[in-house]
Amino acid sequence: MSAAVIAAVDLTKKYGDTAAVDAISFEVAPGEAFGLLGPNGAGKSTTMRMVGAVSARTSGTLEVLGLDPDEGGPDIRAQLGVVPQQDNLDTDLRVRENLLVYGRYFGLSHAQVAKRADELLAFAQLEDRARAKVDDLSGGMKRRLTIARALINDPRILLLDEPTTGLDPQARHILWDRLYRLREQGTTLVLTTHYMDEAEQLCERLVVVDKGRIMAEGSPAALIREYSTREVLELRFGTDRSAEAARTLHDLGDRQEVLPDRLLVYAHDGEAALQEVQRRGLQPLTSLVRRSSLEDVFLRLTGRSLIE
Ligand SMILES: Nc1ncnc2c1ncn2[C@@H]1O[C@H](COP(=O)(O)OP(=O)(O)O)[C@@H](O)[C@H]1O
Ligand SMILES: [Mg+2]
Repeated sequence: MSAAVIAAVDLTKKYGDTAAVDAISFEVAPGEAFGLLGPNGAGKSTTMRMVGAVSARTSGTLEVLGLDPDEGGPDIRAQLGVVPQQDNLDTDLRVRENLLVYGRYFGLSHAQVAKRADELLAFAQLEDRARAKVDDLSGGMKRRLTIARALINDPRILLLDEPTTGLDPQARHILWDRLYRLREQGTTLVLTTHYMDEAEQLCERLVVVDKGRIMAEGSPAALIREYSTREVLELRFGTDRSAEAARTLHDLGDRQEVLPDRLLVYAHDGEAALQEVQRRGLQPLTSLVRRSSLEDVFLRLTGRSLIE
């Protein structure tokens, strides 16, 4: 197989009779920022645990850094940085100590680990919190510390499971900026998310996953080109008038989606579509023309929204 750092073929994980991950195949190239985008329960964390060599697969093949996790688990784990969905920092230790203790696990000398810890505190913008208690950090700071800790062994791949779930918008943007920097430095990133904007910001290439299966694969721009139109017209007519409006507009644009609160018209030119709505005598309460997003791709592929 090529120079891929991760290669999965028909990778499957069953819990009892149900497949949490159902025969997925993908590859990650060195230096790539690769994502798994999908809703809760799609099998993202299960996939990450198999890649991280902490959970055995049921069937299929998996290679991580050229090794089979069934045999090379310790070797693989030594070369990975892992940011799990739930922070698991040591709350008995202060911020910098978390990095020092973790670094010592990897057999780094005192001097090496101290130097690395200070670099990573700077990277994580936590220099002035070095002596703080973990419990006194905000959610965003804890995440940044978890990322710093995952980088202490200079990993060949950084795995991030839902890196910004539960953070406020400002904290998310700070984190995105840090992850973007890692991406620019050529760190191989594999991340999961159920936020389409996060996937668009951070992933060069991604797979859309749902119910343990891969629905589509590509760059954010290519996925949008393939599965959606350039623009979307969002119309609100009020609860009772939506279905009727949808009938009047059924031939407008490439296709439509009728959501509980909105009617979406997929069209190359949203403004032109809106003019046609008005020409047909319909008066929406609100209208909005926007670019298509990965949310539209997901809706097209599954008939559901990413966040329910
Ligand atoms: N340890 C487990 N035992 C049984 N079922 C599990 C276990 N872990 C995950 N699952 C199930 O597998 C499916 C995928 O879960 P998960 O990988 O956590 O999805 P995601 O991370 O995309 O939200 C879910 O239906 C979940 O309930
Ligand atoms: Mg998960």
